[in-house]
Amino acid sequence: MMMDRLQCPGLQSRLMSATQAAELFRDGMTVGMSGFTRAGDCKALPAALARRAAHETLRLNLITGASLGNDSDGLMAEAGLLARRMPFQADVRLRRMINAGQVMFIDQHLSETAEQLRAGHLPAIDIAVIEAVAILPDGGIVPSMSVGNSATFVAQARQVIVELNTALPLELMGLHDIYQPGSRPGRQPIPLTAVDQRIGSIAIPVDPQRIVAIVHTDHQDSPSTVLPPDQETRAIARHIVRFLQQEVDAGRLTDTLLPLQVGIGTIANAVVHGLVDSPFRDLQMYSEVLQDSAIALLDAGLVSFASASSITLSAPVYQHFLERLADYAGRIVLRPQEISNHCEILRRLGIIAINTALEFDLYGNVNSTHVGGTRMMNGIGGSGDFARQAHLSIFVSKSTAKQDAISSVVPMVAHVDHTEHDVDILVTEWGLADLRNLAPRERAPRIIECCAHPDYRDALRDYFERACAQGGQTPHLLGEALSWHERYAATGSMRHMPEVSQA
Ligand code: COA
Repeated sequence: MMMDRLQCPGLQSRLMSATQAAELFRDGMTVGMSGFTRAGDCKALPAALARRAAHETLRLNLITGASLGNDSDGLMAEAGLLARRMPFQADVRLRRMINAGQVMFIDQHLSETAEQLRAGHLPAIDIAVIEAVAILPDGGIVPSMSVGNSATFVAQARQVIVELNTALPLELMGLHDIYQPGSRPGRQPIPLTAVDQRIGSIAIPVDPQRIVAIVHTDHQDSPSTVLPPDQETRAIARHIVRFLQQEVDAGRLTDTLLPLQVGIGTIANAVVHGLVDSPFRDLQMYSEVLQDSAIALLDAGLVSFASASSITLSAPVYQHFLERLADYAGRIVLRPQEISNHCEILRRLGIIAINTALEFDLYGNVNSTHVGGTRMMNGIGGSGDFARQAHLSIFVSKSTAKQDAISSVVPMVAHVDHTEHDVDILVTEWGLADLRNLAPRERAPRIIECCAHPDYRDALRDYFERACAQGGQTPHLLGEALSWHERYAATGSMRHMPEVSQA
């Protein structure tokens, strides 16, 4: 079975165990690993490296596409292997170590890592470790369920290790479209003008001489952990569908809309599920991750084509996808993340971007990453890439968190990922605030009345009125602006409001 996949003559001699391949690493190296939101990650090398780090000093700078599955991030972090980690993670144990200051985490726009590597702003990759379903006769590496930054890692790495995964069907070949922008100065336009266009090759090109090890694995990706839609996420989806219908009625969109980008997580997944019952047709997705909901829309015939950088599915949908791969061929393409998230292409296509906020403020600034303003959750991911370039930039959140003890609508966000300038629409289960063409003083009442939980509206109104009395383009009471977060930290609830002004 391995020989079907290892098609490059002469590379058989590079087959070795993960433990042997782990011996190639040296303390202080910069390593690029495949893997994007639990899809297409290396399975054997992270565990082998963690075993090595358990009995000797081995600290690496690890760059990936996005988060890894198989507990790899947690395993490597706890083994003391990770000195520095970028550009995204979503692992409980790694998160704990990041927030304890034990791992230096660099939270990056996902389109930028490849550019920064190419520009020499980051240390060059010493070793690339890439999961593949095949190595072609010319050495070309056929990735598995994601592309991420793998093409850039391979282009730059002095040594390449391939994990050949025989648990994944060879029929994944043809799903990928590998294109890398040229160097600067003199870079030419990226010739992608339609969501379903292919502009590159089916495999990552590499001189086979640089493939120093080939390791066999037969583990599938970790299933995604998103929860099914609930009453609140269904309400959020309904508000968005109604809004998009109004845009169609107003002649600003047609009933095929514009290509959709939808962020990660439970809420975003539920919003896409909500489109199944919508009146739209022949939709396209130009996104970063395809979750279960994207497969449901493809199955329902509502989405005709989906472009992304990874496919991250729950266990049953993963099996369904692999069993019916032939049905999806020609309807899905996976691209490098700098192409799926590229500003030039996003502006050209005109994306409807739907991403998730932890909290947003009265003026539309969004915090997607830092709980309480200081503790990292996952990272900004691609949300910033899409929000700034989108035709419509939509952010969604439930109006409260932690049994209503936290309001997701606050006077001032305690960390800003997306500024008011990048946010057109905010949505909670209570309603949708259309912020287009509104000045900050007009935005605040709309956000309070449309999005805030009713229990918190009076306090937000009171804050806004007293702030306006002090003046300013974007009125604030600076001594009080973060008091809601302080109150939650001190009492476990944002609810105990300051006395409402009698003025
Ligand atoms: N303060 C503190 N905690 C909050 C919070 C707030 N204002 N809002 C939500 N949370 C907590 C929830 O209680 C939940 O905690 P739990 O895991 O202990 O249950 C957790 O955050 C996740 O929230 P949930 O409501 O389940 O949403 P989600 O699964 O849709 O994730 C984000 C939301 C923001 C964490 C996630 O979308 C994310 O990491 N986004 C940034 C990256 C991104 O947008 N990428 C998109 C491009 S693909």
